[in-house]
Amino acid sequence: MACPKLFLPCLLLQLTSLFLVPEVAHGQGLRVGFYQKACPNAEAIVKEAIAQVLSVAPSLSGPLLRLHFHDCFVRGCEGSVLLDSPTHQTEKYAFRNHSLRGYETIDRVKTALEKACPGIVSCADILALVARDIAVSTGGVFYDVETGRRDGNVSILTEARRDLIPPTANITTLKADFAKRGLSAKDLVVLSGGHTIGTSHCTAFSNRLYNFTGKSDADPKLDSNYRARLKLSCKPNDQTTLVEMDPGSARTFDIKYFELIAKRRPLYFGRRTSRRRPNQGVPRLPNQDRRVHFLQGLWSVDGENGSDWRAHRNGW
Ligand code: HEM
Repeated sequence: MACPKLFLPCLLLQLTSLFLVPEVAHGQGLRVGFYQKACPNAEAIVKEAIAQVLSVAPSLSGPLLRLHFHDCFVRGCEGSVLLDSPTHQTEKYAFRNHSLRGYETIDRVKTALEKACPGIVSCADILALVARDIAVSTGGVFYDVETGRRDGNVSILTEARRDLIPPTANITTLKADFAKRGLSAKDLVVLSGGHTIGTSHCTAFSNRLYNFTGKSDADPKLDSNYRARLKLSCKPNDQTTLVEMDPGSARTFDIKYFELIAKRRPLYFGRRTSRRRPNQGVPRLPNQDRRVHFLQGLWSVDGENGSDWRAHRNGW
């Protein structure tokens, strides 16, 4: 019992879904406590499973949070990032998803839920609940998660290539990509705070250290002391080394990431996502209180939400 591993040919499923999935309005059908009757312990089961996983593998907190983001940005939050394909043509095989991890943890949570309430809790909701529990377990503030997402059955590699934003994107692209999903510039700033936990491969930002404009130069917006430190860890063409996104507190869900931005020390985006002066088109840094709203905005990005319930069942 697990979230989907088997995957029928994408095209067939895409066609099938055209007929089986009714149009649903953005966010319709999501509510806090969706599983209250059908699976009253669902959220407690997720919480317990995540606590167990983090007690032995705390480094999975970043990857598990990121899974939800990458799910939501392609086709909305409907679990398609989990779908597999024998020919490797699903989202998870897109380059930007190569470094995703934590699939086994999602399977583990799903297995526990299936044992308690077979066929009830969607994998898309599991991703959303796990993201919340990761935030809380790493020191963030609890927030209610609306549930009721249906699992999609379509996952297309080229869509992930198109929809997942590269770390080199400029503020115009970032804002436009968020806007396409109904997210504001403020949401962009707040959500980029997800980088308060986890690690990054040097490759994701090495252009800022070694070749920013194609002239073997560094990004002048990156603090020079920090750049020197990063260069010690990340040699040119280093494909494997990981560095903490939020050095010193990369396992704590706090607002230090935003302090790093203010000091010109984020690995990506530079000061483009933080406004020190007015009229630069992006909102001010979030304050402590806004932490509580941190992930709520993203997770309602339109996916397959609604009362026509469907949870992934496969391999069982
Ligand atoms: C705004 C556009 C974003 C871009 C361009 C971006 C880009 C990246 C990149 C390049 C990495 C490093 C991956 C690697 O090298 O292994 C990363 C890691 C991460 N991202 Fe983002 N990200 C974005 C937004 C978000 C959002 C909205 C969240 C969650 C709310 C998020 C959560 C994370 C986490 C937790 C990690 C660490 C993963 C780990 O420890 O393996 N990111 N991101």
